[in-house]
Amino acid sequence: MIIGVPKEIKNNENRVALTPAGASALVKNGHQVYVQSTAGLGSGFADDEYKKAGANLLNSIEEVYAKADMIIKVKEPIESEYKLIKENQLLFTYFHFASYEPLTKAMIACKAVCLAYETVEKKDRSLPLLIPMSEVAGRMSIQEGAKYLEKPMGGRGILLGGVPGVKPANVLILGGGIVGTQAAKMAAGMGANVTILDINISRLRELDDILPLNVDTVFSNEYNIRQLVADSDLIVGAVLIPGAKAPHLVTRDMLKIMKPGTVLVDVAVDQGGCIETCKPTTHENPTYEIDGIIHYCVANMPGAVPYTSTLALTNATLPYAIQLANKGWKKACQENDELALGLNVVNGKVVYKGVSDAFNLPYTPLEQVL
Ligand SMILES: NC(=O)c1ccc[n+]([C@@H]2O[C@H](COP(=O)([O-])OP(=O)(O)OC[C@H]3O[C@@H](n4cnc5c(N)ncnc54)[C@H](O)[C@@H]3O)[C@@H](O)[C@H]2O)c1
Repeated sequence: MIIGVPKEIKNNENRVALTPAGASALVKNGHQVYVQSTAGLGSGFADDEYKKAGANLLNSIEEVYAKADMIIKVKEPIESEYKLIKENQLLFTYFHFASYEPLTKAMIACKAVCLAYETVEKKDRSLPLLIPMSEVAGRMSIQEGAKYLEKPMGGRGILLGGVPGVKPANVLILGGGIVGTQAAKMAAGMGANVTILDINISRLRELDDILPLNVDTVFSNEYNIRQLVADSDLIVGAVLIPGAKAPHLVTRDMLKIMKPGTVLVDVAVDQGGCIETCKPTTHENPTYEIDGIIHYCVANMPGAVPYTSTLALTNATLPYAIQLANKGWKKACQENDELALGLNVVNGKVVYKGVSDAFNLPYTPLEQVL
């Protein structure tokens, strides 16, 4: 199969969908890989490394789309790419269709085969191509939080781990899933006093077993949250209710009982945020202040660490990309239910219920296209 890797053109996107190691693996499986020149640069991979891995370089995005049977990307195609996509071309990337109707309509119109990273799903209902980005954002939330706690950044001026003779900071983490667990690990490792909340008692039991002794687990309810926020220095929002907006666990009135210079990092901002006063920010302008409380609400946190994010993402996507390349999308999806659930739009038909429901579009059961 001919595989194309275009350079990402969405604003501030430095990740790339295939590393030189990934290109080498696909070439060894007998495929031809075409990478757009400088596609890997933002993540630290030079053109030469792709060449050494056996890939071919192309100068323009038009050439990549024109040549490839399968396009591997990171972000959904943006408008200028719509016209480059060919009928029957396989696109393997994040799409998040349900959040953007024009993209959905464009992909229906061009009759491509759209396999979305975010809906590839394992039997245990976990989402293997979303987990790596949650891991990055969870770990990063503490790094960012620690930075904004510094006085010149607007924070309280407290060192997360304290020093001998001085108490460390109190870190409160709302939600004990992937993001919350990674955040707790980092904060605990830096020596903070950590409290992690969840509504799932089995999850709290697991966390109690695996996390170090400077992490307390507490059941999540309004009473407990109100008590804890007053004495927290850094609060991380990491809740998720699948398919729904995040609940506002930290309400506006709670800001008044927090210590001035407390930092809030709402990682759940992409689902509306679990802190009422959260609104999406960017890496250029990541924070704002309300009532003396610093808010960090960057919606694409992994974008700031493209080297790590690219490697983490491609570790997870490559095994699926190899199956798609070796067998073709239809056979690969017939033989692997995880991949089949990634199919969202196939040759003009919407085969993912959530997407058809979102825009009232006709739904075609997946079996009819496989
Ligand atoms: N901003 C970014 O760059 C970025 C990057 C990755 C992920 N995210 C977002 O981070 C959020 C968390 O993702 P995740 O992968 O950790 O999800 P997850 O499903 O692994 O974990 C969510 C946890 O929240 C818990 N929860 C639900 N309601 C709760 C409540 N009322 N109180 C306390 N806990 C509650 C659940 O029981 C679950 O354990 C999602 O919204 C995700 O989209 C954002």
